[in-house]
Amino acid sequence: MRNHVLRPLFAAIVLVILILTARQIMVPSDFGVHGDSFTYNFYRAGAVKDWKNFPVSYKGRQYCAECHEDNAESIAKSKHAIIQCENCHGPAMDHPDNPEALTINRSRDLCLRCHMALPYPSSHREDIPSMNPDEDDLEKTCVECHNPHNPNLEDME
Ligand code: HEC
Ligand code: HEC
Ligand code: HEC
Ligand code: HEC
Repeated sequence: MRNHVLRPLFAAIVLVILILTARQIMVPSDFGVHGDSFTYNFYRAGAVKDWKNFPVSYKGRQYCAECHEDNAESIAKSKHAIIQCENCHGPAMDHPDNPEALTINRSRDLCLRCHMALPYPSSHREDIPSMNPDEDDLEKTCVECHNPHNPNLEDME
């Protein structure tokens, strides 16, 4: 065969060898050990353990109820029952070890995130009772009048 045929052929072979070598070095040894099915088995076996050990930031309200029983009980009976504690207090991480206490945010902004009247009539935002923060009780925080764990209006007086 002529040089102009052989040269590209060699180049192609070298390229394939390079790619295969790179694959051998770069793909972790526990990749695809569960079989050849591309659909179910093409993952690194160690990834399962890695994700199991991945630290969880949010614990959910059942966890809080173990120690903050009163807050859990009152909020469960209120209109805020569907809101997770960590929605207002931030991720628990390893609380009460680290951090020892969670944030208490008494700002108007915390409440207005959900309660500010927004002009989207067709959205479910309308289902949340809303108010205009520029008109009502500007100098006061909302929690001076409303208990966030029990915002039920019948209990206000
Ligand atoms: C194992 C018990 C335990 C669990 C579970 C727990 N906490 Fe606490 N929490 C504590 C302790 C202890 C403190 C610090 C003492 C205190 O202020 O009551 C604290 C403090 C707090 C504070 C600050 C209180 C203050 O007056 O400054 C908030 C807010 C709080 N926790 C929210 C939560 C939330 C939300 C959860 C669930 C994601 C939770 N905690 C789960 C024990 C716990
Ligand atoms: C809608 C937002 C919101 C939700 C949801 C919420 N909190 Fe609070 N929480 C607050 C605010 C605001 C304060 C401060 C209230 C004040 O000082 O008047 C507070 C205060 C606290 C405190 C310290 C004062 C106290 O009552 O002992 C703890 C502990 C606490 N929350 C735990 C919880 C737990 C547990 C849950 C879930 C069961 C929860 N919170 C759900 C907003 C919220
Ligand atoms: C001075 C006390 C006071 C302050 C401060 C206050 N509220 Fe109210 N709020 C009330 C009273 C009283 C009612 C019930 C009577 C009414 O509708 O006016 C009410 C009603 C509401 C309602 C129900 C409205 C409805 O249509 O059913 C929401 C939601 C509300 N407040 C959120 C907030 C938020 C968010 C803040 C802070 C930005 C806030 N409030 C500040 C006293 C207060
Ligand atoms: C994550 C969204 C969210 C946040 C944050 C939030 N709320 Fe609410 N709030 C709701 C929802 C949802 C309802 C109940 C709507 C319904 O079912 O009628 C509600 C209901 C209320 C009501 C009416 C209770 C009644 O009896 O009708 C008041 C008052 C209220 N919230 C005050 C507050 C205050 C004060 C804060 C801040 C400390 C706050 N909310 C933070 C979502 C939120």
